[in-house]
Amino acid sequence: MNSSTMIMATLSQLRKKEGIPYTKVQIKPVELKNELYYQFSYFESNKVAHKNVTTIEATRVIKELFEQTFRQGMICTPEADYQILISKKFKVSILTKSPTKSEIDLSHNRKKQYVLEEGQPIPFLVELGIMNEQGKVLARKYDKFKQINRFLEMVEDVLPSLPEGRTITILDFGCGKSYLTFALYHYLAIQENRSLNVIGLDLKTDVIEHCNRLADKLEYTQLKFLVGDIAEYDELDKVDMVVTLHACDTATDAALEKAVRWNASVILSVPCCQHELFTQVKNPILDPLLSHGILKERFSALATDGVRAKLLDLMGYRTQLLEFIDMEHTPKNILIRAVKGESGDQAQLWKEYTEFRDFLQISPYLEKVCKDLLPSN
Ligand SMILES: C[S@@+](CC[C@H](N)C(=O)[O-])C[C@H]1O[C@@H](n2cnc3c(N)ncnc32)[C@H](O)[C@@H]1O
Repeated sequence: MNSSTMIMATLSQLRKKEGIPYTKVQIKPVELKNELYYQFSYFESNKVAHKNVTTIEATRVIKELFEQTFRQGMICTPEADYQILISKKFKVSILTKSPTKSEIDLSHNRKKQYVLEEGQPIPFLVELGIMNEQGKVLARKYDKFKQINRFLEMVEDVLPSLPEGRTITILDFGCGKSYLTFALYHYLAIQENRSLNVIGLDLKTDVIEHCNRLADKLEYTQLKFLVGDIAEYDELDKVDMVVTLHACDTATDAALEKAVRWNASVILSVPCCQHELFTQVKNPILDPLLSHGILKERFSALATDGVRAKLLDLMGYRTQLLEFIDMEHTPKNILIRAVKGESGDQAQLWKEYTEFRDFLQISPYLEKVCKDLLPSN
């Protein structure tokens, strides 16, 4: 392996699924204590394990992974990307493609590594005025750049939960100006080479027209924007990933309901303006909290997200609440990340949910619209 030229490699397409806990391995050079190492990232269902090894060891492990585990590899160098395909009978084909990554400076490896890196122009970031034509992030847009990268890191973690070997359909409900929709498309379609069909939906006609023009200009052929209301959207039978970022109040719940009914593999949702429970929540024991408007408002918003997470768990998801940097609304925000899969004893989850709901004397929108998917009271 030539350490000065390999920027990153990705091994994917398992030869056989049984007995292999991970679905993909990414490899990149890193500098540790002035020595060159290779970092192997093993992607499992919803976590990633990292291991740093020496150059000699890296060559051995990559050889072994190709011989025993994976049928496909993508090796990125500054000159070209090489796609390696190994047939069932171990016939090897190598396709040479235009490079998608520039040389990395190993001395910078101690700096935070972003999913999107500075130094080479990324067309959608240039169009959105975040980078200049030389690939430098504008100082006043650095927070936005960090936010986009934070979002993509969260997407990166759930990649193994998305279906492989077919086109993935993604719906972004309440997409607005769609910075993160463009980022998602760039990351999955261009960096990760996934076959995609991405739709952004929003109520605002002018914003949607603008987004469609930009998608055309960028030649993002599988990214389309539509005008419509989340609750009324019924054009697709199957969606693999639902994204909803700052869709107001119960628009988030309408999006979560759609996602659950589609059996979406992944849901990423940053709620916003959670007003629904503010007018409902009451319990004299909570009077020290609820008698202050500002505390009642914050408590109601947190309770809404707690309710959403528990209901998603009850409807067949493993749900996490993560911190999301959000520049435009509040300094910090919560991202609900739900991945299809069992999350525990349903009877216990239902007990926890109903006790909480009854204690607060609330009647959440998401429970009402998903009644047929939940245990009965
Ligand atoms: C605060 S903006 C967020 C935009 C974008 N997702 C982001 O994070 O930058 C909320 C967007 O949701 C849209 N929206 C709110 N309710 C909606 C609904 N019921 N159906 C479709 N879009 C909706 C609004 O028009 C607005 O563009």
